Amino acid sequence: MNDSQFCPNRLGNDVILITGSTAGLGAAMAERFAREGAKVVITGRSEDRGKAMRERLEAVGTEALFVAMDVSQESQVKAAVGAAVERFGKLTGLVNNAAWIQNRNDGPLTEISAETWRKLVSVDLDGVFYASKYGLKAIAQAGGGAVLNMSSTGGIRGQVSSHCYGACKGAIQSLTLQMATYYSRYRIRTNCLVVGPFDTGEGRLRAIVEDPVKGRKLRHQYMGRVGQPHEVASSAAFLMSADASFINGVMLPVDNGGTIRSHTAHGAINMADVDPPSNDWVSLID
Ligand SMILES: NC(=O)c1ccc[n+]([C@@H]2O[C@H](COP(=O)([O-])OP(=O)(O)OC[C@H]3O[C@@H](n4cnc5c(N)ncnc54)[C@H](OP(=O)(O)O)[C@@H]3O)[C@@H](O)[C@H]2O)c1
Repeated sequence: MNDSQFCPNRLGNDVILITGSTAGLGAAMAERFAREGAKVVITGRSEDRGKAMRERLEAVGTEALFVAMDVSQESQVKAAVGAAVERFGKLTGLVNNAAWIQNRNDGPLTEISAETWRKLVSVDLDGVFYASKYGLKAIAQAGGGAVLNMSSTGGIRGQVSSHCYGACKGAIQSLTLQMATYYSRYRIRTNCLVVGPFDTGEGRLRAIVEDPVKGRKLRHQYMGRVGQPHEVASSAAFLMSADASFINGVMLPVDNGGTIRSHTAHGAINMADVDPPSNDWVSLID
């Protein structure tokens, strides 16, 4: 990770549970929170990856707990929140991060089986409900804290695929507003990161960006690159910390400006008709 700007002990009083933190952005956030002093509860289905993450965090000098759980199973989520409170005496933060991202290209809608739809919703949306339901109660009992929901630029834009994934991510943004409004009375802030393309899959996205044809859209929209996990982790650490104590109900895009460019880059111009020779495409965006 790039830890040049981390703030030691900024999260020193916090115990934060991250759903889906055995890999990817969840793991990057776990490491960042640990470096900023938080006790971190790592969760996910993979015992091997979870234990390896716990050891990584302990090496940073923090206490960490791994609880194996499938976020689509309410009883497992409830048990994980209970285990966190039992181990550390409280829970002050929750990051709703787990998602079945490998299946995000699920559309078009008319081709999705009811089974696939249900499976996606059970992980990507039901999981947020379960973790929030039990996490919010525990955080309220601790006297307050912060929740961070992970959405996607796919939740606020039309896409040719990702119909179910996008619907879940859009719903997560709405849920953020409901949670931020209601649970502020318990001194709980709820915010949301609206995440652009990040390199979490062994260079999967980077390979697409570098592909002359497939990468054209991404190169135009995201200014030539995908994000690195530490760039999500630093935004997450800020929103979970007291530095964001007056920020509640915010949808923060972490996308190198991709969201604001979507209409000019994809609406007014049919990108399929645009050749990107040298740097000429820059003038099309501006
Ligand atoms: N990467 C991107 O470009 C991007 C873009 C926009 C939004 N996002 C959002 O950012 C978040 C993280 O994405 P990512 O790219 O880091 O994904 P990832 O690399 O696939 O990691 C997903 C994490 O979730 C866990 N997970 C998956 N299914 C689960 C389940 N049923 N129960 C519990 N844990 C589960 C995985 O652990 P196990 O396998 O151990 O269960 C893993 O730790 C997601 O909410 C995603 O929608 C990512």
